[in-house]
Amino acid sequence: MKFDTPAGQNPIDQLKVVGKPTSRIDGKYKTTGTAPYAYERHDVAANQAYGYVLGAGIAKGRVRRIDTAAAKRAPGVLAIVTTLEHPRMERGMMNAAYLFGGDEVQHYHQAIAVVVAETFEQARAAAFLVQVDYAPAAGKFDLAAEAKGAKPVPGDSGEGSGGNGEERVGDFEGAFAQAPVRFDETYSTADESHAMMEPHATIAAWDGDKVTLWTSNQMIAWGHGSLGKILGVPKENVRLDSPYVGGGFGGKLFVRADAVLAALGAKAAKRPVKVALTRPLVMNNTTHRPATIQRVRIGATKDGTITAIAHESTSGNLPDGDPETAVSQTKLLYAGANRLTAMKLAHLDLPEGNAMRAPGEAPGLMVLEVAMDEMAEKLGMDPVEFRIRNDTQVDPQDPKRPFSHRDLVGCLKLGAEKFGWSKRNAKPGQVRDGQWLVGIGMAAAFRNNMVMKSGARVRLAADSTVTVETDMTDIGTGSYTIIAQTAAEMMGLPLDKVVVRLGDSAFPVSSGSGGQFGGNSSTAGVYAACVKLREAVAQRLGINSADAVFADGQVRAGNRAVPLGEAASKGEVSAEDTIEFGDISKKQQQSTFGAHFVEVGVDAYTGETRVRRMLAVCAAGRILNPKSARSQVIGGMVMGTGAALMEELAVDTKRGFFANHDLAGYEVPVHADIPHQEVIFVDEVDPMSSPMKAKGVGELGICGVGAAVANAVYNATGIRVRDYPITLDKLLDRMPEAA
Ligand code: MOS
Repeated sequence: MKFDTPAGQNPIDQLKVVGKPTSRIDGKYKTTGTAPYAYERHDVAANQAYGYVLGAGIAKGRVRRIDTAAAKRAPGVLAIVTTLEHPRMERGMMNAAYLFGGDEVQHYHQAIAVVVAETFEQARAAAFLVQVDYAPAAGKFDLAAEAKGAKPVPGDSGEGSGGNGEERVGDFEGAFAQAPVRFDETYSTADESHAMMEPHATIAAWDGDKVTLWTSNQMIAWGHGSLGKILGVPKENVRLDSPYVGGGFGGKLFVRADAVLAALGAKAAKRPVKVALTRPLVMNNTTHRPATIQRVRIGATKDGTITAIAHESTSGNLPDGDPETAVSQTKLLYAGANRLTAMKLAHLDLPEGNAMRAPGEAPGLMVLEVAMDEMAEKLGMDPVEFRIRNDTQVDPQDPKRPFSHRDLVGCLKLGAEKFGWSKRNAKPGQVRDGQWLVGIGMAAAFRNNMVMKSGARVRLAADSTVTVETDMTDIGTGSYTIIAQTAAEMMGLPLDKVVVRLGDSAFPVSSGSGGQFGGNSSTAGVYAACVKLREAVAQRLGINSADAVFADGQVRAGNRAVPLGEAASKGEVSAEDTIEFGDISKKQQQSTFGAHFVEVGVDAYTGETRVRRMLAVCAAGRILNPKSARSQVIGGMVMGTGAALMEELAVDTKRGFFANHDLAGYEVPVHADIPHQEVIFVDEVDPMSSPMKAKGVGELGICGVGAAVANAVYNATGIRVRDYPITLDKLLDRMPEAA
């Protein structure tokens, strides 16, 4: 099905199943331990051996020699594959670093060997007996030091946000120089780790020249093609299966070393092999969100109308990596005739920087929305009012392009009302609750809405059950449930008559999960397949498909009503289709909007910050499942709070690695850190986005929330921290005056 005109009335609009708060249908498996993750697929292949990955102990240079003699003699060892035995292997989709092969070390903990043994303990013990000689080389590990030499580069996160090295509208410098009120500050954000619960893990088994990988991956079709290329095997001979994914956040968009080394290990050991990356390898071998240095300049008239806005961001990466696209939102969020956005990239020899939940916007809004708070204060304006004053209903870089639907102002107003914003004391450091300095802050949320081609197959059985098959993944987001809701709505069935099967490369290619495009795109693909199934059912029953009504488990036409399953009485009815999006998404700008409000307490004596309550108001098209959508948004809010207050990969700038490479040293918020969260969805539909009229919501929740936390800290203390995260050491020396 081609989607190139706005959606009209369709069966989804009935909202009998879609749009209802629905518990995740996989929830019972998750909570009873019966939804196996990749490493736990004990039943898929007999005689599984264990692979332990060895990471390079230097950050840059060459591997001179690997001595495996002692390791090979160790108990239980079946095979050892080293990087020196293979020429450098091809990279898969969006890989910046090479995953394996050859003697060059590009970054610390790059995989250099896999040791395969009967047990995990034997593999690990033997791995420590492998002797490696390196020829280390000098590397660049310090973003602040390398930033000066950074070059303007275009870049794309691979999932929607990106742009040119420099983009200009009007005359920024001239307008900024003439602006009656000017703001100019520089900020920094930290390297961050996805820190998903399930590490990257794969079981690989060969059958002749065919290989199957039970893995944990967000994008099955990307991974499928990439693994064929990396392993040098025709794509038809590779199968990927990833029905449950314990979190990804962008870290599992691409093939990583676990999959490659499970396949190589299995080939060498002539047995199925399972490989999980240890947490230090997750942090130093895979990808992370790159740190940034960002400068924001805003010029405005005295009444708070922005006349000039500039956002420049510098990040670092390996030679073939992309910049963090932290200026993306600034191209679209606020009006202003004179504009400049620019991205620069410095060469760093740290592990690969790549997509992490809302790449670009998450660190970009962390900075832009603090700058907006600072500018509002400079103008003597309320921060909510300042944002409303500078709303735009058209793309500010190309005013002929309207937004398909944009309700930022509605979100700001509703949020301010529900949160009690009018009670805020605009003067910082005024509110006290015992030892706590109390403050509230807010920020706008913005994330683009992307649409991706997505396919599905639907099969009707004689007992009226419908089975949906698509290679779409559920990364903890609720894909199983919204896909079942979609098929149930389309076929007039209750939810429990739909079976959803995901994550297998043998199924039709879907959008996959990334860039908050998965929910809307994959359900639109299921919609398209169900339209075809409805036609096929009508044809089998000998009724005109235009007259057929699918409701209550029946197909009705005129006076006739038959159970849906009757169409399959002589054999299953199957239909398959792919939704393809024309340039409808280019004619109008599709984005999602929101507003975050946060109250914090800062301990007057220790500088410890505690979040007290949070509210997000989101405008993101039709909400297919308010329950799982809320979970996505509150998860994003937790992650954004982490970015604001604690998450930071500590760079060892001498040896070139992330030193706090475990979950003890890399702190993420836990339940006790987030006491109260509320989410309100503004009631809206966007017929430009898809037949579902939905948009992405999985990343909107993280966008802007960190700035709302930072602005609340400022309101509480009067201390403006521009180097994130706001750990207590950055507040402590100024606390005595604040208290
Ligand atoms: Mo992408 S960072 O997995 O949404």
